[in-house]
Amino acid sequence: MSRILIWDIPTRIFHWSLALAFAAAWLSSLDNRFLYAHTYAGYAFLGLLLFRLWWGVVGSRYARFRAFAYDWPSVRAYLAALATGRATRYLGHNPAGSWSILFLLALGLMVSTAGVLVLGGEEGHGPLAGYIPFQAGDYAHVVHEAGAWLMLAVVTLHIGGVVIESTLHGENLVRTMITGYKKNPGGPGAGVRAAGTTGAILLATLITAGLIYLKGYLMETPEQPYVPYSGPMLPDNATWRSECGDCHLAFHPSLLPVRSWRRMMLTLSDHFGEDVALDAGTAAEIEAFLTANAAEALASEPAHRILASIAADQIPLRVTDTVYWKRKHSGIDDKYWTAQKVGHRSNCKGCHLDADAGTFEDAGMRLPVSAAADASRATSSNP
Ligand code: HEC
Ligand code: HEC
Repeated sequence: MSRILIWDIPTRIFHWSLALAFAAAWLSSLDNRFLYAHTYAGYAFLGLLLFRLWWGVVGSRYARFRAFAYDWPSVRAYLAALATGRATRYLGHNPAGSWSILFLLALGLMVSTAGVLVLGGEEGHGPLAGYIPFQAGDYAHVVHEAGAWLMLAVVTLHIGGVVIESTLHGENLVRTMITGYKKNPGGPGAGVRAAGTTGAILLATLITAGLIYLKGYLMETPEQPYVPYSGPMLPDNATWRSECGDCHLAFHPSLLPVRSWRRMMLTLSDHFGEDVALDAGTAAEIEAFLTANAAEALASEPAHRILASIAADQIPLRVTDTVYWKRKHSGIDDKYWTAQKVGHRSNCKGCHLDADAGTFEDAGMRLPVSAAADASRATSSNP
């Protein structure tokens, strides 16, 4: 039997790139440190979906939405036939497939748009940074996650459908989506001409964008171990940094509420057992900086979260005493706290590359690598 071209090149590139972006987005969502990769996968996903909407109008015969067999009677007939172990063979998308594609497109647009809202609202990054209230970002997060799970369910059904159809028709549909060809029962071909160029451009754009976006990862050096987000930097003050950064990290004001800093500045002569009393002028300048940029200024995600986790009647003097800090760090293995690079729980820099800046970005988190080595050395030398 002769073969006939059904899926044009852009449709095939779109399909597999979308699958890849989807998988990458899921995998990178498993650890906050991969937020960069996750964001890129999300942008790629959104871009691909927009491309597909356009291609559904101007693409070749079977890629067009017009060609989708989506009217309800044919869906019902298709499913009824499927239930008895037969299925009408469609050259393009079958009715169930058409529906799941339209549903996935809508769901995907919703999830990736919500993702941009989360990034702008919670992290203060991306195109919407500064326009989205933190709370709205939190709500969008719920939609983003629920939608992602729903999408995973539909993708699972889709894969199931492909397996069933391939079996029923004795035709490997996965290979069809790679080569573009199906066995020809005498229908019209896709009739593609310019599609090859469009496909090549699409692929080249995706790869270039990926390389540009990920260059931060590819070009990591010991001096610049991660590329900080391009979001706004938190306020800084030289007097505060030199006076309060002498014995330990200068803990950024955004990490504690105003009342904590006031009390701390009142008790400098007994500062965790140290006398760090300052002259009046210096103390006043530092206190003004601390209170103006305290957690209440809500300049970062940690500020929001820490503030929300402190009861109104509490005045914590340690960041490490706040509920949020404890919750975030409760799951970390002991070997990391005792690692040479850390040694102490308030040595934030041991694990957060941007602790000095006070931003505590997800992408700036690095558990000390040597800790694992230390631990394995200890075990292996143990008889
Ligand atoms: C002479 C050394 C010294 C100086 C100077 C100093 N501190 Fe401290 N600070 C300490 C010690 C010691 C601790 C307790 C460390 C520990 O046990 O965790 C501490 C703890 C803290 C903590 C709690 C950290 C946590 O566990 O969350 C904060 C916040 C803090 N200092 C703020 C300041 C501020 C603000 C200034 C400047 C006005 C300052 N420190 C100056 C010695 C110092
Ligand atoms: C032993 C390593 C380690 C040390 C030391 C450490 N952290 Fe963390 N921190 C982590 C890890 C790992 C996470 C991620 C936990 C998660 O996402 O569930 C985290 C998460 C956070 C977050 C949440 C970031 C976000 O947006 O999700 C904040 C804020 C934070 N740490 C602040 C601090 C501060 C302030 C200090 C010092 C007082 C500190 N950490 C010390 C390992 C550490």
